[in-house]
Amino acid sequence: MATTESLRPASTGTIAFSVNGRAVAIPAPGARRLSRVLREDLGLTGTKVGCDAGDCGACTVLLNGEPVCACLVAAGQVAGCEITTVEGLATRSLLADRLQQSFLHHGAAQCGACTPGMLVAATALLEKNSSPNEAEVMDFIGGVLCRCTGYRKIIRAVMEAGQVAAEVSPQAGQAVGARLVRLDGSKKVNGTEVFGADEIPPGALGVRVIRCPHHRARFQLGDLEQFAASHPGVELVLTAKDVPGTDCYGVIPRFADQPVFAHHEARYRGEAVAAVVGEPDALEALDPAEFPVRWEPLPAIQTIAEGLAEQAPRIHSQREGNVLVRGRVVCGDVDRALADADVVVEGDYETGFVEHAYIEPEAGFARRVGDTIEVQACTQSPYMDRADIAKILGLAPEEVRIIPTAVGGGFGSKLDLSVQPFVALAAWKLGRPVRMVYSRTESIVSTTKRHPAQMRLRAGASRDGKLTALDFRADFNTGAYSSWGPTVAGRVPVHASGPYRVPNYRALTRAVHTNIVPAGAFRGFGVPQAAIAQEQLYDDLASKLGMDPLEFRILNALEDDTPTVTGQVLGEGVGIRACFEALRPKWRAARISAERLNAESNGPLRRGVGVAGMWYGCGNTSLPNPSTVRIGLKRDGRIALHQGAVDIGQGSNTIVTQICADAIGAPVTHFYLISGDTSITPDCGKTSASRQTFVTGKAAHMAGSKLRAEILQLAGSCKCGTLEFSDGSIAVVENGNRKAIDLRALPLDAHGYVITCEATFDPPITPLDENGQGTPYAVYGFGAHMAEIEVDIELGTVHVLKVTAAHDVGRAINPTLIEGQIEGGVAQGLGMALMEEFFPGKGENLHDYLIPSAGDIPPVESILIEDPSSIGPFGAKGIGEQAVIPTAPAILNAIHHAIGVRIHKVPATPDRVRAAILAKSGAPRG
Ligand code: FES
Ligand code: FES
Repeated sequence: MATTESLRPASTGTIAFSVNGRAVAIPAPGARRLSRVLREDLGLTGTKVGCDAGDCGACTVLLNGEPVCACLVAAGQVAGCEITTVEGLATRSLLADRLQQSFLHHGAAQCGACTPGMLVAATALLEKNSSPNEAEVMDFIGGVLCRCTGYRKIIRAVMEAGQVAAEVSPQAGQAVGARLVRLDGSKKVNGTEVFGADEIPPGALGVRVIRCPHHRARFQLGDLEQFAASHPGVELVLTAKDVPGTDCYGVIPRFADQPVFAHHEARYRGEAVAAVVGEPDALEALDPAEFPVRWEPLPAIQTIAEGLAEQAPRIHSQREGNVLVRGRVVCGDVDRALADADVVVEGDYETGFVEHAYIEPEAGFARRVGDTIEVQACTQSPYMDRADIAKILGLAPEEVRIIPTAVGGGFGSKLDLSVQPFVALAAWKLGRPVRMVYSRTESIVSTTKRHPAQMRLRAGASRDGKLTALDFRADFNTGAYSSWGPTVAGRVPVHASGPYRVPNYRALTRAVHTNIVPAGAFRGFGVPQAAIAQEQLYDDLASKLGMDPLEFRILNALEDDTPTVTGQVLGEGVGIRACFEALRPKWRAARISAERLNAESNGPLRRGVGVAGMWYGCGNTSLPNPSTVRIGLKRDGRIALHQGAVDIGQGSNTIVTQICADAIGAPVTHFYLISGDTSITPDCGKTSASRQTFVTGKAAHMAGSKLRAEILQLAGSCKCGTLEFSDGSIAVVENGNRKAIDLRALPLDAHGYVITCEATFDPPITPLDENGQGTPYAVYGFGAHMAEIEVDIELGTVHVLKVTAAHDVGRAINPTLIEGQIEGGVAQGLGMALMEEFFPGKGENLHDYLIPSAGDIPPVESILIEDPSSIGPFGAKGIGEQAVIPTAPAILNAIHHAIGVRIHKVPATPDRVRAAILAKSGAPRG
């Protein structure tokens, strides 16, 4: 990117420059960031802000044709210059227009938060070089981070920008299985998608939250009235005493324990103790050090061991031993089976905090409308937000309206409240709109993380290679509040066996409170951590048995008729063996090649090939999990799809429509979406646990089938009739006869439609008994990854060369979107395996907390297996969380294959790998 040094400084007063070919002159202070000028002064919100520090590249624009980070450019530096933002790309050149089409075609935009920056950076490249190679593309987009896609589809979209043919929409009845371009894609590539920070209601006030700077501290607030009076522009200071309802919320009501503002003692660094509400400029000028609060730091519990220590003070008085909750699944007699096993292996494994690092920090606004409060913000769970905001404000749920914006990545963390209580409370009290955008640091210090885990395992097998027993214990650092700790502690014991038949099994877990920012949901709810331990241990078992690791897994893979560790016999759709078998030819070739290269190598590089399996239950664990979808046939022949499943980039807007369209027999072009607004869409539950394709998709299928039946009935036709939609009418064709229904002549129902159909689907599950036996999930997704890597034994660095990912998705509703989930999952799994670890209190930015960039991601080959579930819509299962689980253990197993060392603590950073090499060789460290 261009440096800003060469830019011409502006004179004071107005700053004149050109944006997207239009001359503008703004009375901006010269030091104002260009990103703010574009977004706030010129309304060009296509340019995103992910960090305000030059780390993420989301704000990339062209300055005289060169890509720059607009957050690092002062407005005064662009006087007389030409700026191009994503909104102006298509008019800049045909090439840029084609690039946007290519992004759509290849599924290169998921959440879309990075997309404007990516498109701008890639345009700069294509204008210099219209047919770049892969390395050139990676180099040019390397400064723009993406947390969703794993970059591979972006790279391909850039390389093939000139080769994309016009998209053809599938015919009626052929949407399922089609590589349909995402229906909400255009707004993501032209910069018009509205994210949490993109709308500023006229007259909106801002919020600045005062957060605890210590891991634990008592605090005393000073004279707040005097503070407000002495700071012009400050309208209100909120503290715990201003919460009119119940100052206690949480994503699982039974465990709710989090206040909006701490009362006297803050339990973690970053916890809110007060909020200053006022004019945005006044808040910006505010020095937080002036806020009247006196801190008294207290000894803090930071680790699991400290939390469990006998003398440890309780973080929550009602939770003995700081244990939030325990999880347990037991079957057979594990002690006896281990004693009788021919081979036993054991190991301890540890994982750290992982930051979600979505590109869009939390943002939104609230406004009071009469006796209701409206909150428009990024969220994965509008109805859960509604329940908690109602509780906090002391309102009925119907008096709260949640309007989700586009979500710039969530991965679980946007299931929890962030800005919502602050803006809702302030807007409710003041009767004025109030807006808040988290800074990157605020996002990192105050929002949930992946749970660190400490795991101890023993596994046994018989001489013939059959797994006989697994004893698994895990403690999770769940932080100061419950968040999704109960879900992690409950889900992991069900999954810690991996997708294998384990007849004797004991998995015990604890979620332990500490004085750290709460750990919550992060793609997999603890299962990725468990898989890191269990899949490495199974490799050790195979090795001790003298078996090939892949063949060991195939031998022990679950089948349709074998019971899981909860005693569930799925009876169908257990595609794990097929996943492993799909890897077999590549596995053999890659292992032989790696071993030959290593035998011949004189240098420091060693090749390794590793494999890992995965299973993951779709939806809530043994809990009700319904989605309700409503569809309405309009007089003009279009179909309104009210589906409340928030699309956080994974593609539910498109997938659910494809399912519904084929259930009706209607073309997708006749649909229009009404998404996620609690006042106009029924509850589709939260977007998490890989449930939207399965649960909401099924509800859409059911609602679509009802609508089809009603249309056929209206025409007096049998089930085999074919529907033909046109403007204002539907024709039903049956045995060559055509019966037309004039929709314009039909009366409208209470919803304003000719026909309204609604359906609810709640997966058939049962509660688990005291040993965790029962049916926790109706459907599981299965998968296996093979990682090919290269280790530099002198430096300890690990380079991933390729990942081959086989996933049983039941039915691939949209292969492009599924591949996108797989590639994105691989990228997050790679980050977890090799580079990502958050240390509370340190590196609270994207400069120090590193996530994979384009250059870190290897080619990913996706193999889609379709072993259908009769419960899922058209046989489909989930893929969102599934995709991330096997990558890290496959990489870690590959490291072991390459250099013969086990990495017991992830991420496998160069220092840890090098230390393991030295420990194995017996050489002194250092
Ligand atoms: S917002 Fe400018 S680089 Fe992140
Ligand atoms: S699509 Fe790149 S960050 Fe979401």
